Amino acid sequence: MYRCAAFVLLFSCGVVFHQSHGVEVNVTGEDKKLCLYANLMLNFSVSYKGADNKTLTALFKLPENVMSDGSKCDEKTSTLKLNFGDGHSWSMNFNKSGKSYLADQITFSYKLSDSNYFPGSSSNKTITVSQNANINDVELDNCYSCKSKDEISANLVNMTLWNVLVQAFVANGSKSENITSCSADHSTTPVPTTIPTTAATTAAPVTNTTTTPPTTPPTPLPTPQTGNYSISPSGPNTTACLLASFGLRIGFKQNQTYQEMNFDPHGANVSGKCGVSSSELVLVSEELTVAFTFVNDTKKFRLLTLNVTVNTGSGFHEVDTNLTLWETNIGSSYMCNKEQNSTISDQLSLYTFNLRVQPFGVKKGDFSTADECFLDSDLSFLVPIAVGVALSFLIILVLISYLIGRRKSRTGYQSV
Ligand SMILES: *[C@@H]1O[C@H](CO)[C@@H](O)[C@H](O)[C@H]1NC(C)=O
Ligand SMILES: *[C@@H]1O[C@H](CO)[C@@H](O)[C@H](O)[C@H]1NC(C)=O
Ligand SMILES: *[C@@H]1O[C@H](CO)[C@@H](O)[C@H](O)[C@H]1NC(C)=O
Ligand SMILES: *[C@@H]1O[C@H](CO)[C@@H](O)[C@H](O)[C@H]1NC(C)=O
Ligand SMILES: *[C@@H]1O[C@H](CO)[C@@H](O)[C@H](O)[C@H]1NC(C)=O
Ligand SMILES: *[C@@H]1O[C@H](CO)[C@@H](O)[C@H](O)[C@H]1NC(C)=O
Ligand SMILES: *[C@@H]1O[C@H](CO)[C@@H](O)[C@H](O)[C@H]1NC(C)=O
Ligand SMILES: *[C@@H]1O[C@H](CO)[C@@H](O)[C@H](O)[C@H]1NC(C)=O
Ligand SMILES: *[C@@H]1O[C@H](CO)[C@@H](O)[C@H](O)[C@H]1NC(C)=O
Ligand SMILES: *[C@@H]1O[C@H](CO)[C@@H](O)[C@H](O)[C@H]1NC(C)=O
Ligand SMILES: *[C@@H]1O[C@H](CO)[C@@H](O)[C@H](O)[C@H]1NC(C)=O
Repeated sequence: MYRCAAFVLLFSCGVVFHQSHGVEVNVTGEDKKLCLYANLMLNFSVSYKGADNKTLTALFKLPENVMSDGSKCDEKTSTLKLNFGDGHSWSMNFNKSGKSYLADQITFSYKLSDSNYFPGSSSNKTITVSQNANINDVELDNCYSCKSKDEISANLVNMTLWNVLVQAFVANGSKSENITSCSADHSTTPVPTTIPTTAATTAAPVTNTTTTPPTTPPTPLPTPQTGNYSISPSGPNTTACLLASFGLRIGFKQNQTYQEMNFDPHGANVSGKCGVSSSELVLVSEELTVAFTFVNDTKKFRLLTLNVTVNTGSGFHEVDTNLTLWETNIGSSYMCNKEQNSTISDQLSLYTFNLRVQPFGVKKGDFSTADECFLDSDLSFLVPIAVGVALSFLIILVLISYLIGRRKSRTGYQSV
């Protein structure tokens, strides 16, 4: 059993672990004396559901600015509770048994409604998971140390604990100088009297995460669902004056992070208005608000202004005007069945799928004939061919002029 090989090191916790950049917590008892000490690093990987039942994964680390409310020390049991973000908490329970103590359970409780950590979550639930902690048989009045990574999986959550230094049931208000280290640390080095150097060098990730931007890896989104939208001049019973049908995705950059989001047409709020020279379509979902303003410049219409607001995460807002997208003759509709990518600005891109739109001159509530985008046309495949032909033509031209040139210079020589 590894425990038998547990080493006792005569260093103070503070001296040995000055390299650690973990989250440090001092819990004091009623007498204002230290009763529970912890310094640890902790990463989370949480899978959750987003729109369309899509599985998302939130990767984040325990931020440095945690609160230890709810931590407590009793004679036989102690609790370390770390609260962070918008109501999340991570806790570890310690029990005294005989001349040693152990941590029997880790509990992680997280709120999916916190969009800083769980952007795009389709649920508001608070979820609590528990798992056994692997901290056993720590001698009383000893610090427990484990530099090695400890992977803890509980349902939809994976937690990685490393650079751990804890002491429960601290006597006399000061941390112990004696250390019980975990078995995983021992196996990394056979030399017992030193802290494993390999672990020590890898264990110094210099990151400060007071703000902890949650990083969701950019996974390719499914094709957005096509929504059918119509605006009527007055009330829903009258025939439509603006028609639009498309799948919509926006890409936006915020804090140097690029993100894409599909617009969910289910339950979306549709509003807008039709005018002679300007019409508007406003789509509002739980996550996104997108307003399209179209302009009629007597002969043609086009998308002039785009106003995008992202309601999740730390939010995003941008209004772009003077656009020249989807330009079409008045009296026709604009159509583009292929995926159309439009770069609106450095921060914003618009992706449309199965697009058909008519903001002016709708007759009998139906789309007029369509002007189809170039991407859709059967001729678009000709582009590479045309380029090839032009290139070969150029090569032939160069060849001919070279041959003519040679001929000329030869006759030149002969005439001398
Ligand atoms: C947790 O780890 C297991 C095994 O490594 C992996 O299959 C699973 O996807 C992980 N879950 C999360 C939420 O990261
Ligand atoms: C999500 O999945 C659940 C069952 O897993 C199903 O009942 C529900 O209809 C799905 N919702 C969507 C939007 O696909
Ligand atoms: C912990 O998470 C951060 C980012 O969330 C990552 O950079 C780091 O590599 C992770 N460390 C471990 C040991 O998983
Ligand atoms: C989440 O809560 C907010 C208000 O607290 C509510 O407006 C919203 O509908 C809820 N969303 C879900 C998916 O339950
Ligand atoms: C550390 O452990 C040794 C041997 O178990 C003991 O003699 C010594 O008093 C301990 N030191 C502290 C500060 O507890
Ligand atoms: C984070 O670290 C950078 C340098 O790495 C430093 O400039 C910055 O002030 C630190 N931020 C905080 C909040 O500690
Ligand atoms: C509204 O439409 C319904 C059927 O779609 C029709 O029965 C009703 O008469 C209409 N009301 C008006 C005021 O036109
Ligand atoms: C953009 O839309 C928001 C609502 O989402 C609105 O408050 C704002 O006034 C709009 N901006 C412009 C310039 O239309
Ligand atoms: C739109 O373009 C016109 C001329 O093309 C210019 O005068 C105007 O300032 C532009 N407006 C914006 C908001 O860029
Ligand atoms: C549009 O962008 C996506 C990536 O976001 C890319 O896969 C696709 O090929 C692009 N389509 C066009 C027509 O440029
Ligand atoms: C477009 O604008 C012109 C001039 O402003 C107007 O005469 C025409 O009726 C408008 N077309 C539509 C379909 O509203």
